[in-house]
Amino acid sequence: MWAGVAPEGAVAQSGMTLTRLSLTDFRNHAGADMAAGPGLVALHGDNGAGKTNILEAISLLAPGRGLRRAALSDMVRDGAGGGFAIFAEVQADMQEGADLPPVALGTGIEPAHPGRRIVRINGASAAAASLGEWIAVLWLTPAMDRLFVETAGNRRRFLDRLVLALDPRHAQHSNRYEAALRARGKLLADIAGADQQWLASLEAQLAEHGAAMDAARQRTLAALSAELAEQPDAPFARPLLTLVDSDGVPRAAVHDVEGLKALFASRRRIDTAAGRATAGPHRDDLSAVHAATGRSAARCSTGEQKAMLLSLVLAHSDCVARARGQRPVLLLDEVAAHLDPSRRTALYERLAAQGGQAWLTGTEAALFGDMPGPVTRFRIAGGRIAAG
Ligand SMILES: Nc1ncnc2c1ncn2[C@@H]1O[C@H](COP(=O)(O)OP(=O)(O)OP(=O)(O)O)[C@@H](O)[C@H]1O
Ligand SMILES: [Mg+2]
Repeated sequence: MWAGVAPEGAVAQSGMTLTRLSLTDFRNHAGADMAAGPGLVALHGDNGAGKTNILEAISLLAPGRGLRRAALSDMVRDGAGGGFAIFAEVQADMQEGADLPPVALGTGIEPAHPGRRIVRINGASAAAASLGEWIAVLWLTPAMDRLFVETAGNRRRFLDRLVLALDPRHAQHSNRYEAALRARGKLLADIAGADQQWLASLEAQLAEHGAAMDAARQRTLAALSAELAEQPDAPFARPLLTLVDSDGVPRAAVHDVEGLKALFASRRRIDTAAGRATAGPHRDDLSAVHAATGRSAARCSTGEQKAMLLSLVLAHSDCVARARGQRPVLLLDEVAAHLDPSRRTALYERLAAQGGQAWLTGTEAALFGDMPGPVTRFRIAGGRIAAG
């Protein structure tokens, strides 16, 4: 369970450590068993060896669809019987006093029910959402490189994931908002004419959950911005973050319940013609500007965009550590290879100083040669894992 909220001003040095990870028929890993310590965990091996698959397995120990957002059936090892299992022991270490006992987390699917994700916490069946009470996992992967130039929907999903790590109720508000949005869309499309009372009641639900979603997003961005403001511009590029509307224009005001009700009521005709809800929190977007140059992230170089994302994820880890009293497990896929040696050293020093556990991947052992301890190293080759 979470250790509690860190004292004001302090960022928790304590973190969660995956002390053991075992995989059965997960992607290219038929059977793998890894024991890791706190601090940095370096995975090296050739392309296609199975490094990202290990990070994906760890990401599935938290609620959600994991770092590839893949279907469960894709994760079953080709040629295996149709199920997979991921098991981990997580030690939440405390800053002071005795360590808590480790918690055993398990997830997977069984051949008889390939679409149903099974979750076990200390051996007992549990809902996937309750994994979030025991572990937080944040990641940065090469697939996220294009975040600032791709669709607003992907950025919104990214932002909502950041929000969720700080505010688990965000999922409930989002789900109810989406359900009300679909119901309103159907009603507006009804050529017999929409039941006005029913429409107003759906719009009231949209307004309530939409305002809660917006407030949670604003809180997360404020917390992230406060962390980022304390970071120097170098060695990692610092982004300035704001919520903007679907035209990229900074929103003049927060979405409050009354304002949203009026917005939806005023757009019934436009939304009917468009066949979708054309305005509201579901259309908002995350805008990032490179603090040092004032350029929008989409116009920055690939390296600058990567550096801003890295800063963002590190700041988010600080936010989660501050809010929940423990540093989340960080998964940094192929991040090291893209940094010059001085930035790489700066990253390792920062990760080691902040406590908690960070898993890093790369194709060459040399990338991880000079890391401040403690470090656990694994060599991955063809789904086989060896220390070193
Ligand atoms: N369900 C599956 N069953 C078996 N193998 C799979 C499955 N899904 C993916 N793979 C394979 O697992 C291998 C390892 O993938 P992974 O993405 O982990 O490699 P990697 O070590 O991260 O490589 P890179 O350095 O290129 O990123 C790949 O060859 C991939 O095609
Ligand atoms: Mg990979």
